[in-house]
Amino acid sequence: MTTRNLIPLTIVLTVMTTNCSSNHREFGKTPSGESVELYTLKNAKGVEAAISTYGGVVVSLKVPDRTGALGDIVLGFDDFKGYLLPPPYFGAIIGRYGNRIAHAAFTLDGVEYHLFKNDGDNSLHGGKRGFDKVLWTPKSLNGLALQLTYLSKDGEEGYPGNLSVTVVYTLTDNNELKIDYTATTDKDTVLNLTNHSYFNLAGEGQGDILAHELTLNADRYTPVDKGLIPTGELRSVEGTPFDFRQPHAIGERIGSNDEQIVLGGGYDHNFILNRTGDGLSLAARATEAKSGRVMEVLTTQPAVQFYTGNFLDGTIHGKGGKVYGRRSAFCLETQHYPDSPNHPSFPSTELKPGETYHQTTVYRFSTAS
Ligand code: BGC
Repeated sequence: MTTRNLIPLTIVLTVMTTNCSSNHREFGKTPSGESVELYTLKNAKGVEAAISTYGGVVVSLKVPDRTGALGDIVLGFDDFKGYLLPPPYFGAIIGRYGNRIAHAAFTLDGVEYHLFKNDGDNSLHGGKRGFDKVLWTPKSLNGLALQLTYLSKDGEEGYPGNLSVTVVYTLTDNNELKIDYTATTDKDTVLNLTNHSYFNLAGEGQGDILAHELTLNADRYTPVDKGLIPTGELRSVEGTPFDFRQPHAIGERIGSNDEQIVLGGGYDHNFILNRTGDGLSLAARATEAKSGRVMEVLTTQPAVQFYTGNFLDGTIHGKGGKVYGRRSAFCLETQHYPDSPNHPSFPSTELKPGETYHQTTVYRFSTAS
């Protein structure tokens, strides 16, 4: 190798090591005594994401406000034990199937599969022990990203096929948290992976999110029945509290007597994204006036679940003992439509051997004056 070849390599390595870093420590132990690690990614601007190998949980996400002060904008717990309690799914990877499957059953290739009913008669977010409650195998990628892998065995939680899943969290120097999901199977199966971070751009524990302004790039949404299962209709948002095509405060119409708002106890609905092509496209933009923080969500997925923390009731004490009350955060869970395996007209969530499932979602942070 000549000296000429060595110079560019040296420069590249220097840039990588000075701009980003990753470190990890023990976060706790599972009830069966396995060690849970907490990995922290940090970019050149000091933005920090801490991710747990248990559930792939985004435990904290520190981004600047308009003065440059960092604030943690996701709900969660300081102590790992908090994540072992019955879940609101704070920050977790959700799988195999994000959101609900009606009657906890579906038919695939003529075979009926039965899942665990953990939400009335339905199965929610993967069942009894979904991907939010398993230990993922970590690998730090050059200090820039964290790769998590998990093998979900054939029959786990009632789903067919050995499903091999890889989730890569990357923190970019553009203040983006990028999540890449990849999966393969050895038998026909269904899946719908997402992340369940609860955001409050004023800072976690800083009151409700009703004054946040939200834009959703969606002309239609999927109305639900009283079990929050899609009826199958794709309804226009026009003239309803679901029209966020122009920015609206989240709280502006959340108290309306619209039948769907009442059924959801607020927003808890799947919005169908207006997509252009197959790549990343803008799904949502949320802004918080006091901090000036702005979050944009870009995704390759066809839809996003907008959930306003309606089931948070102040009984959870999160980081620093802060009380997480009703609507103290919102989720933007990029996904396929809930209950797709029982709706042949919805975009398919089937994965076959030989195919590779791949989805990407980017949460991009900036500030506005
Ligand atoms: C669902 C809500 C549920 C929440 C926490 C959301 O994705 O749509 O109905 O309460 O997750 O489980």
